[in-house]
Amino acid sequence: MKGVILAGGTGTRLAPLTKVVNKHLLPAGKYPMIHYAVRKLAQAGIEDILIVLGKQSAGLFLDYLGSGKAWGVRLTYRIQEEAGGIAQGLSLAEGFVAPGEKMVVLLGDNLFEDDLKPFADRFNRQERGAMVMLKEVEDLHRYGVPVFLQDSIIFIEEKPSTPKSGYCVTGVYMYDSAVFDVIRKIRPSQRGEMEITDVNNVYAVNGELRYGLLTGWWTDAGTFDSLREAGEKLASTDGDER
Ligand code: DAU
Repeated sequence: MKGVILAGGTGTRLAPLTKVVNKHLLPAGKYPMIHYAVRKLAQAGIEDILIVLGKQSAGLFLDYLGSGKAWGVRLTYRIQEEAGGIAQGLSLAEGFVAPGEKMVVLLGDNLFEDDLKPFADRFNRQERGAMVMLKEVEDLHRYGVPVFLQDSIIFIEEKPSTPKSGYCVTGVYMYDSAVFDVIRKIRPSQRGEMEITDVNNVYAVNGELRYGLLTGWWTDAGTFDSLREAGEKLASTDGDER
């Protein structure tokens, strides 16, 4: 199983800080945000990790993460020239993830408590398809929100004004290598981005989308409030180990 961390994008909701440095290098607790995604994958036993970066601050990522040796992983880097959307960023992992291999994909601004290992193990046993991690949240309109029929996700609505469940789709995804063909089939959304929700909906419509539930704290640290909240949670729960 390979790991992919998406750390491109423009981080406009965290401007003006993100005029100086990329969002994923901003402090969260004791470390820059990117630290936690690498550590989560390392703790799940995933040793080969691709980091997708924008051009902004690319050298600083290297300064901090280097080869990944400090975390016991091997890091590869690819540059997403323009913020064309999460799915466009993920398309850069083709080749790094070989045909027939599976991957865990993390959005670099998602910070959370749960251990990924049990979910990755479960996905390894899933013959094909995809798996998304869900979390019960209040501010549903900020996220992708699943629509359920009995126990299955039949569709995901991106940032709905009338959410049809109490869960958000977090930025923790698992895919088989067919995801690259799926990305080739989707088109940019109205906001001009290749949406990961459109990718997940192809799996959902084919009956190949499973899910797991995060039970610990989770936050998308893409706004000032959520970044501060994440910093507080991490400061009180996080040890010093890499
Ligand atoms: O955090 C969970 C949410 O993330 C999901 O519930 C939504 O379904 C999903 O679309 C996404 O929503 P956001 O609006 O929060 O996505 P955002 O544009 O903020 O990007 C999230 C991360 O993805 C960010 O850490 C950087 C990475 N990214 C984003 C874009 C647009 C890239 O690597 N490249 C990109 O082009």
